[in-house]
Amino acid sequence: MKRAGAILLLAFGMNLAYADPSRLSTPSDAKWKQECGSCHDAYPPRLLSADNWRRLMSSLDKHFGANAELDARDNKKILDFLERNAGSGERYSSSTLRISDTPWFIHDHRVINKKEWTNPEVRSRSNCSACHGRVILGD
Ligand code: HEC
Ligand code: HEC
Repeated sequence: MKRAGAILLLAFGMNLAYADPSRLSTPSDAKWKQECGSCHDAYPPRLLSADNWRRLMSSLDKHFGANAELDARDNKKILDFLERNAGSGERYSSSTLRISDTPWFIHDHRVINKKEWTNPEVRSRSNCSACHGRVILGD
């Protein structure tokens, strides 16, 4: 997986070392990983603010066009984990609740042009592992 990410970044003419996010160590939680990693990458909690996580977890029935509703117990357990490990400051906050719309994300990805975002192997900004491999997810 790590290799595939490296190859893709090289195809963009970028230096992988430059984009190596391995210092992003990610705390884990089995329930979170299972529920929030089933449709897409399990996004590390520190990449979004606690307030954004609270809003996201309270609207899972209308989750970016999908229904990701959980029972109340699982919801609370996962929210506790996300809040405990959330990022702090404006940099980690976005009105759309998308990590890919936060100031830190936009800043750290400013070298990427439109064509690269829509590369068929990437498809979406939300598809972190297409470029970063599993490293970004703390695996
Ligand atoms: C039923 C499928 C499904 C489940 C389960 C699910 N999601 Fe999502 N999620 C989506 C879809 C679809 C998108 C939009 C993806 C896109 O735009 O490419 C999304 C997007 C997101 C985004 C925004 C990504 C970005 O662009 O920055 C976050 C954050 C997120 N989900 C968090 C979670 C969390 C936390 C959980 C667990 C409680 C979860 N998701 C469970 C389907 C799901
Ligand atoms: C199109 C490929 C691509 C996608 C998709 C992508 N990234 Fe990145 N990311 C990069 C590149 C390239 C850099 C390095 C940019 C630079 O250093 O200027 C980067 C930088 C980063 C950094 C900073 C790295 C560091 O060492 O501090 C983080 C964190 C990060 N990305 C997380 C994510 C997350 C989380 C997602 C999904 C929500 C994501 N990225 C989606 C290509 C991508």
